[in-house]
Amino acid sequence: MTRDSSAKPFIDVLSGQRQTVPPIWMMRQAGRYLPEYRAVREKAGGFLDLVYNPELAAEVTLQPIRRFGFDAAIIFSDILVVPHALGRDVRFEVGEGPRLDPLDTPEKIAAEKFSANFATFEPVYEALRRVRSELAPNVALIGFCGAPWTVATYMVAGHGTPDQAPARLLAYRDPKAFAKIIDAIVETSIRYLLGQLAAGAEVLQIFDTWAGVLPPAEFTRWSIEPTRRIVEGVRAKVPGAKIIGFPRGAGAMLPAYVTRTGVDAVSIDWASEPSFMREYVQSRVALQGNLDPLALIAGGDALDKAVDDVLANYAGGRLIFNLGHGIQPNTPIAHVERMIARVRAYKG
Ligand code: CP3
Repeated sequence: MTRDSSAKPFIDVLSGQRQTVPPIWMMRQAGRYLPEYRAVREKAGGFLDLVYNPELAAEVTLQPIRRFGFDAAIIFSDILVVPHALGRDVRFEVGEGPRLDPLDTPEKIAAEKFSANFATFEPVYEALRRVRSELAPNVALIGFCGAPWTVATYMVAGHGTPDQAPARLLAYRDPKAFAKIIDAIVETSIRYLLGQLAAGAEVLQIFDTWAGVLPPAEFTRWSIEPTRRIVEGVRAKVPGAKIIGFPRGAGAMLPAYVTRTGVDAVSIDWASEPSFMREYVQSRVALQGNLDPLALIAGGDALDKAVDDVLANYAGGRLIFNLGHGIQPNTPIAHVERMIARVRAYKG
């Protein structure tokens, strides 16, 4: 297939056209494994100071594109800007991850107004406009938000937990109160994503990092349903908006997730079983993934084999090459370069 210089292989895959060389980017591609990110981060002060500084947020978004020539840039922000806009106190403490005031009782939830201050998102929109004006036309720009379930797990617990027990307990004990949190995130996220599209994002990704801790009925109620409402809400205003879902750990629930949410692609984790994914998921939507981030840290033959496996498993269909989750801070840059070279040398 011939391609003009403004064609975007990433968008083409989402629109239904398999690419002989799969487009590639990495979840969490702007971050601490890059010395140039660490330098800007130091200059910015706190993590949220960086997120809300359009000039610096645009700069760190572009850093991995300049260094590696990825096919897509993802705007530098965080899923927790939505609770922040909803008036929750959100802090990032060095070495500890996010901290919020826990919203873990029906009383606290009843006292919440859940009215979003949409001005909070303006610096993110400005960063998107800056990035789009500097990106080459063949590089796609991704906007994102967290899925309501995953965002709610942080709002309820007030921090990350290994099993999301606080949110799961609240959802069992008081589903009505929990649904109030979910509804507020749904409504705010729809407007946030529409704002990102208006500011230049061409594709949206919805991160449901903690989807995999839910039993099937709860997965349907708290992961699929709210995500479906976001997809519908966005497409009601922007028909045909391209959306990628990432319900990490969804496993055999992925076909239901794809059917009901209406996403154009799903990002899959490294534990996914290839013949199942090809038959029940890739037959309907594009797949994104799914290299184990630890293979990327290991490097060498293990990395080569892991890259070849992803290509052998999925590059016969519509594939966006990516990791199965975010890149970790201790990943050597040379390994990222080696992965990209191997993917781009693929003859499919
Ligand atoms: O992908 C990108 O490069 C774009 C930026 C991006 C960040 N967070 C920046 C960030 C994206 C897409 C996210 C999404 C995000 N944030 C998710 C979903 C995806 C995933 O990886 O599971 C989640 C669960 C969060 C919440 C969050 N933010 C946590 C748990 C943490 C602490 C753990 C960690 O990775 O550091 C953050 C902080 C964060 N978000 C950092 C970055 C670059 C590190 C902060 C720093 O520089 O000190």
